[in-house]
Amino acid sequence: MGSDLNSLDGFPGELVTVDVTDADAQAAHIAQVAETHGRIDVVVTAAGVAGGGPLHLIDIEEWDRVQNINLRGTMLTIRAALEPMIKQRSGSIITIASVEGLEGCEAGSTYNASKGGVVLLTKNLANDYGRIGIRANCICPGFIDTPLLRGVLDALPFREDIIAQHKLGRLGKPEEIAGAARFLAGDDASFVTGVALPVDGGYTAGHSYGIAEMMGLS
Ligand SMILES: NC(=O)c1ccc[n+]([C@@H]2O[C@H](COP(=O)([O-])OP(=O)(O)OC[C@H]3O[C@@H](n4cnc5c(N)ncnc54)[C@H](O)[C@@H]3O)[C@@H](O)[C@H]2O)c1
Repeated sequence: MGSDLNSLDGFPGELVTVDVTDADAQAAHIAQVAETHGRIDVVVTAAGVAGGGPLHLIDIEEWDRVQNINLRGTMLTIRAALEPMIKQRSGSIITIASVEGLEGCEAGSTYNASKGGVVLLTKNLANDYGRIGIRANCICPGFIDTPLLRGVLDALPFREDIIAQHKLGRLGKPEEIAGAARFLAGDDASFVTGVALPVDGGYTAGHSYGIAEMMGLS
């Protein structure tokens, strides 16, 4: 996660920027990676944008932009990566959805619909490709302290209310999402497929009414 891939000093691999909505560019890039390395073991789809508002106020172009990047872009990356994975009969696909792909929230229609789509796309991949050794899992982050979230929270007056929805009482860190991706990518998750895994500090664990605090649990 991070808004400028080219600024990742010390990253051991090659960094290439591709527009995820460009089907041809994605296919060409992923084919190139497969040719260079002879295979593709893991693909993580993390590109995404925020966007929202109650439905009657949503600009249709904004709706299309968000679906195009978050859902269609995810689909295009995976579609290109499937070709080498099917040939080699193995692979781990990891999508990044959101807690907002698992449940609704105020003014979330555009983003939540895109991320709900990512969750179900991932489960369908697990159904279709499991028998040939390809696993597909989805990470559903809670609110993670990244440029995307700062852009949203800076514009809104309820940062503390959002933090309070996380039972651990804080925002997540990008490396906590990377840790889940590392687990899902590797052999420790060899029997895990079709999962939508909340990495959310308890955001989706249930509702809070202040009773725990009343009992001194804060
Ligand atoms: N930060 C959070 O609280 C949070 C919570 C749940 C899910 N997510 C999801 O995690 C993922 C990463 O988000 P983040 O918080 O690191 O945001 P971010 O803005 O820091 O990073 C998003 C990245 O997507 C890239 N991107 C946007 N449009 C693109 C396109 N058309 N082609 C290629 N790349 C494109 C941006 O350049 C950026 O590097 C997103 O899918 C987001 O929806 C984030």
